[in-house]
Amino acid sequence: MCSIIGYLGINPAAPIIVKGLKRMEYRGYDSVGVATFSDNQIVVRKGVGKVIEVNNQAKLDQLAGNIGIGHTRWATHGMVTDVNAHPHPSSAGEVAIVHNGIIDNYDELKKNLQQKGYTFKSQTDSEVIANLLQYHHDKTKDKKKSILETVNHLKGNYAFVAVFEDGTLAAARMHEPLILGIGKDGYFISSDVLGFVEHTDEVIYLDNKEFVMIDSRGIKIFDFDGNPIQHQITKVSKEFADVYKGEFAHFTLKEISEQPKTIANAANNTKLELDLAADFVKHARSLYITGSGTSYNAALIAKFLFSRFAKIKVEPVISSEVQFSPDMFEPQSILIAISQSGESADVLEAVKFAKNAGSKIISIVNIMTSSLVQQSAISIGLNCGPEIGVAATKSFTSQLAVLYKIVDKICGGCIGLEFDNISESIKKILSDDSKIQEIAKKFKDVSDIYVLGRGIHYPIASEASLKLKELTYIHAEGLPGGELKHGPLALMDSNSYVIIINPNDSTYNDTLTSAREIKARGAKVIGISDKPSDAYDFWIEIPAINEALYPFIEIVPIQLLAYYAALEKDADPDYPRNLAKSVTVK
Ligand code: F6R
Repeated sequence: MCSIIGYLGINPAAPIIVKGLKRMEYRGYDSVGVATFSDNQIVVRKGVGKVIEVNNQAKLDQLAGNIGIGHTRWATHGMVTDVNAHPHPSSAGEVAIVHNGIIDNYDELKKNLQQKGYTFKSQTDSEVIANLLQYHHDKTKDKKKSILETVNHLKGNYAFVAVFEDGTLAAARMHEPLILGIGKDGYFISSDVLGFVEHTDEVIYLDNKEFVMIDSRGIKIFDFDGNPIQHQITKVSKEFADVYKGEFAHFTLKEISEQPKTIANAANNTKLELDLAADFVKHARSLYITGSGTSYNAALIAKFLFSRFAKIKVEPVISSEVQFSPDMFEPQSILIAISQSGESADVLEAVKFAKNAGSKIISIVNIMTSSLVQQSAISIGLNCGPEIGVAATKSFTSQLAVLYKIVDKICGGCIGLEFDNISESIKKILSDDSKIQEIAKKFKDVSDIYVLGRGIHYPIASEASLKLKELTYIHAEGLPGGELKHGPLALMDSNSYVIIINPNDSTYNDTLTSAREIKARGAKVIGISDKPSDAYDFWIEIPAINEALYPFIEIVPIQLLAYYAALEKDADPDYPRNLAKSVTVK
């Protein structure tokens, strides 16, 4: 989603801002822009494309001045055009803004401002913030009052940074992240610590309904009633500075390869939170689990684990669907919310519904400074370091590690968790991926891929199809094996590729039968299994392991397959088209 950044200090602002925007590229975007204040005026440059492309063309980093704002846009209101890119200046040009989120009442505000003579160039909801600030500043001649009036008229979720014509920076937060960096040489304000972590690790996390004003004399933070607020400065984890690819060609490959280590890190999680979570779950009146995309697939695995090992019923709900069943939750129930970013708007919305009904929230989350953590009674960290590739990989297996640990705690160690064994098995898969690369070549001109699994392997089939869709843009579908004859078999012909998730467990024989039925229709069968079979046209071998633990290792070859197939198709595996890492709008 959109990233925002602002800087005020003793160094030239534009290069710092452009570098910050590059570090936040992983969040996903379609256009870029920077505005700086210099010689008593605000200058804006922006355009459609990657940071490097727009910078080459518009020389964003050469803008003069020590004060500035920058933005990468992920379009919601208005097409992907240069004009719709941020920053947006007010019609008089005395203030410019960058914005993340959605202004629900922008249409009404815009019409009002137009009647008063303020003009608009873009189709965005964001531009209304610039003109609203300008209007209230024209009226009050006071920056603090103009911000207060503006935030009190805006409806929706937003974080914005504004630069005023006297060089003051201001930023406000309403349900979108906004972090202030306190450096030796200046102040930073960004939607993501990664925007400035190379300059300072001292930060202030602004709360909802707060705004900050920054000028050469320092920073002042206020709430939306105008009262001054004091915040503690906290230090961010050094891990967040680790956002380089190192020897790897892409972040996605690096993150897939980190899994032997990250699974172990997640498994070694703080005992206290795990104990508390297990205790909460045991005493819950009812138990729900939610997430979006990959995190929802982890929730589906959890359903199997809870019922099989802990004998506890848990209802998985897709976060974006919760609003349509608002009466689902009840007092004393528990909602486990899973999210890598902790900022997915759909997950936060689901949490809101659950809390309003008197439920308690346990979150499983990677970014421990996120909004989701603030909303939770207990938060368990994934501990897997920053995940930059837009497609979730290591965060998924870390989510599994935490879920397995909770269930194992409840059932008194009945799963037989062997994290060392899991890590060793994954290392084996990673150590020779030549066969996977060969198969990826076949996907170059394929239009449909099916992934089939039974029982606990069906959510893995769904996750596998999500990875293939995101990274290769090939239509992919996860199928529960038993459903084949109830419809999907009609699709199988010599153009189809079907990945069969078939470890040697209780699902093995039935799934092998499915593989034979598919092969008999001429489709190509790729078997992922610890046992070879003549039913497979291609066999991807996985090591044998305690059967409860197969999900950890069977997803890895498919992550690799999706990665290599993306390369075959000349798609950028780190930044798939149209997608964003942190989906902060509904
Ligand atoms: C899939 C993917 C998305 C996310 C989803 C939830 O590879 O990246 O489907 O899993 O947007 O994101 P979080 O976990 O941050 O809430």
